[in-house]
Amino acid sequence: MASGLFLRKSVQELHAEAEAQTLRRALGPWNLVSLGIGAIIGAGLFSLTGIAAAENAGPAIALSFVVAAIGCAFAGLCYSEFASMIPIAGSAYTYSYATMGEFLAWIIGWDLVLEYAVGASTVSISWSAYVVSFLHDLGIDLPAKLVASPFEPLRLPDGTMVHGLINLPAVFIVVVVSLLLMIGIRESARVNAVIVVIKVTVVVVFICLGVFFISRANYTPYIPPNTGEFGHFGWSGIMRAAGVIFFAYIGFDAVSTAAQEARHPQKDMPIGIIGSLVICTVLYVLFSSVLTGMVSYTELGGAAPVATAIDRTPYDWLKPLVKLAIISGFTSVILVMLLGQSRVFFSMSRDGLLPRIFSDIHPRWKTPWRSNLLFMLFVSLFSAFAPISVVGHMTSIGTLLAFVIVCAGILIMRRTHPDIPRPFKTPLVPLVPILGILVCAAMMYSLGTDNWLRLGGWLAIGQVIYFAYSRHHSKLRKRSQ
Ligand code: ALA
Repeated sequence: MASGLFLRKSVQELHAEAEAQTLRRALGPWNLVSLGIGAIIGAGLFSLTGIAAAENAGPAIALSFVVAAIGCAFAGLCYSEFASMIPIAGSAYTYSYATMGEFLAWIIGWDLVLEYAVGASTVSISWSAYVVSFLHDLGIDLPAKLVASPFEPLRLPDGTMVHGLINLPAVFIVVVVSLLLMIGIRESARVNAVIVVIKVTVVVVFICLGVFFISRANYTPYIPPNTGEFGHFGWSGIMRAAGVIFFAYIGFDAVSTAAQEARHPQKDMPIGIIGSLVICTVLYVLFSSVLTGMVSYTELGGAAPVATAIDRTPYDWLKPLVKLAIISGFTSVILVMLLGQSRVFFSMSRDGLLPRIFSDIHPRWKTPWRSNLLFMLFVSLFSAFAPISVVGHMTSIGTLLAFVIVCAGILIMRRTHPDIPRPFKTPLVPLVPILGILVCAAMMYSLGTDNWLRLGGWLAIGQVIYFAYSRHHSKLRKRSQ
């Protein structure tokens, strides 16, 4: 049995699978960069930057963005090598199947549900809060009971705290995006591209206008002295803030789930992954520098730091536009996350580890529509009832685990398959993957015991399913018997 757990797919086998695929190859390099940006810029930037500046890093939040970007860059370089070497839908799951065997591949595939499905749910809850606030500005107040989970009080635009029954706007956006994904990859990529243009434009406009309202006094001191408590300003605060705003970078790896829909995956996957990461890092550092230059970090702790900054300018008209852009920006994050999720389960189902329903392709739309439908139900449940802090941290810990495994996979693959063509090579191996593992493990550590327990619980459920179902249906296992 033990050896069965380590059954590995050969790379030739993976390439043959890609040849025999049924998904539509419609994405070029810009589509991929745009998919990456679509998944990356969202709740992390617009909701967490102010909080992390106010509570942890002060104006040095820009340095925290650099630290988190370095951690992601290590993982991104490793993802790029894999994605160009094994350009198959399914991302980290597929890479693990080739390097570490079926059982670990299963674990990582199961873990990715936390990043993609639970991540989509997290952002849908933020989406809902922004929509409630936007409608309030227009004079429309949705019934409080229908816009919040029963397990987390919601601060309404007038300041009162309410417990809801169900978060219906969050469910609404998950349903709309899922329906779009069922209709087609090209349509989804097009909608994503439009949203990306809108949200990047708003970020750039904010930076260009805001730069004239920076007050030097707000940068002094640049690194506020530590209060005596770890993580509260000083260098430890910069590190803690890096862990918090790591969420803002999640998503660049989602590009790799669309490998089978890329026209030239070997060349374009690294462009999509690294390109989107670099563009977002530059925007994040500039954005956070302007924000903390316009407003003292001590005043940035509220729910809408960008609105607070705009209040310091004569550009009142910018406020509703920014809110709209943020709402549409969150929509594209949800879109790419749900896309990634269905593609991971598509691959797992093709391998027999999950029921066939997850790889059932619609004859006309050419999408795994039943899978989209099932995830629509699953994610909607979280969106309707879960507290955002819980789902947010589960997303981060799940993603970090995936990054650690991908970095380890590069080390293993270089030993076991030194000769396979690698159109893109991670530089400075083994240093880069080892640093990737260390930085991501450190960020996982900083997320605390509760989240480790939740991760353990989720993985335990996964193991029950593996031993009860997947092991017995694995196509690779059947072929090897
Ligand atoms: N990076 C994505 C966001 O910040 C998940 O919303």
